[in-house]
Amino acid sequence: MSTTEQTSTRRRQRHVVCGVDELAPGSTRLHAVGHRQIVVGHVPGHGYVALSNYCAHQGGPLSAGSFEAMWTAEKVGERIQDPDRWVLICPYHNFEIDAATGCPVARLGTARTATYRVAVEADEIVVYV
Ligand code: FES
Repeated sequence: MSTTEQTSTRRRQRHVVCGVDELAPGSTRLHAVGHRQIVVGHVPGHGYVALSNYCAHQGGPLSAGSFEAMWTAEKVGERIQDPDRWVLICPYHNFEIDAATGCPVARLGTARTATYRVAVEADEIVVYV
């Protein structure tokens, strides 16, 4: 089912992806909207994200990737994970994409992975494209 949402710049269609009980924490689901391939993911403890399925590096399928808390460090040799920032790791070359923004953690040219608004409505996960 789809409905239309008016934003300040353009109309977006509402698309039901699945029920909330069908997407376990840490898992992803591929959802097609027309020619777009969208990966919807359940970030453990942080809700849902929706990104383009194509990695900005060489087009790897992010729906086959995995979530991980972002590694951060203040000093060389430190290994600390930030529980509030998560990345989706591309299965092709292990580049990390910030799950919230679609921005690459390591520089992948100037490309950013497209993100989409995602919401939970009446126990369904929906994306607006
Ligand atoms: S295609 Fe994703 S890291 Fe290379």
